[in-house]
Amino acid sequence: MSKPRILVTGGTGYIGSHTTVELINAGYDVVIFDNLSNSNIEVLDGIEAITGVRPAFIKGDVNDIATLDCLFQAYPGIEGIINFAASKAVGESVQKPLLYYRNNLNSLMNLLEMVEKYQVKGFVFSSSCTVYGEPDVNPVTEESPIKPATSPYGNTKQISEEIITDFIHSGANFHAIILRYFNPVGAHPSALIGELPIGVPQNLIPYLTQTAIGIRKELSVFGDDYDTPDGSCIRDFINVVDLAKAHVIAVKRMIEGKSADKIEIFNLGTGNGVSVLELINTFESATGVKVPHRITGRREGDIEKVWANPERANKVLGWTAETPLADTMRNAWKWQQHLAEKK
Ligand code: UD1
Repeated sequence: MSKPRILVTGGTGYIGSHTTVELINAGYDVVIFDNLSNSNIEVLDGIEAITGVRPAFIKGDVNDIATLDCLFQAYPGIEGIINFAASKAVGESVQKPLLYYRNNLNSLMNLLEMVEKYQVKGFVFSSSCTVYGEPDVNPVTEESPIKPATSPYGNTKQISEEIITDFIHSGANFHAIILRYFNPVGAHPSALIGELPIGVPQNLIPYLTQTAIGIRKELSVFGDDYDTPDGSCIRDFINVVDLAKAHVIAVKRMIEGKSADKIEIFNLGTGNGVSVLELINTFESATGVKVPHRITGRREGDIEKVWANPERANKVLGWTAETPLADTMRNAWKWQQHLAEKK
């Protein structure tokens, strides 16, 4: 029996590469489509070193529907799509809103056209806890209210969820699973793939590990006057390999016809809220490496606290975030050290 074929857009990116590894390990035939705008072709070497398989790779932009169409002709029988090809920097989205709306929404609509044209069974969409804004109550369930977006990036996630829902309601014949990620962190335990931020990292963990290794002088902790036990913001840090595994379960569920509904939404988080200062402590005790840091002012647009109620994913998908945070921190550090050795 031939392996089910899955298209992974953005498959050389951070979450895309980890998901590709888990898909290959689970016996899928993966085709990656990526324009390499925020990733590196060498990621394929890492995927191959881990799995022993080099996935098919096509360089292209999901905004270019003609190339996308050629891909579906060249790789017939694609049964599922996991869509990671999107821009994700909150701050940049405020500066370049049109880029974000174009990249994140055109690409989604192009892919949905392909779903219909080539009778793809299942579509996994990467959404975010950003859709909950500043929640009134934590942990958040999938039924928690969607709050007005605080950035164009966040708005693209909300609009994308609506586009998929409307398309399904129009009678389009496929299943969709929307995964709302909390804060994905860490790297593959092999340290052969991980997060590769280009330029100065905007997210906490890459900035932290770059500080620990001496690339950055100190980590700024954005605020210690929030209404939280230690005053710093609280997030739900989810291991990237655990997160990747949820995608394999989601795509399998759809292509094997096990979905309970045409569209399903799941929070992907651990269920534990951890503050920025607690995270720094966890990193330091897990690795024995000190992270010079200083409290600075709040970052505009930050949410005070948000963490997941992941029960639906636990029960319905049979998925749990199982990696302890200390292991995740050790893997993030191992990856940073691997990057330093390569230079
Ligand atoms: C944001 C988005 C999320 C998106 C993610 C990826 C929101 C609410 N969340 O997550 O949807 O997927 O970016 O880009 O829009 N911090 C510091 N110092 C630093 C960097 C961060 O203290 O140098 C703090 C932040 O203030 C925040 C926490 O660390 O409290 C996590 O920040 P970050 O990693 O940037 O992710 P989010 O803003 O939570």
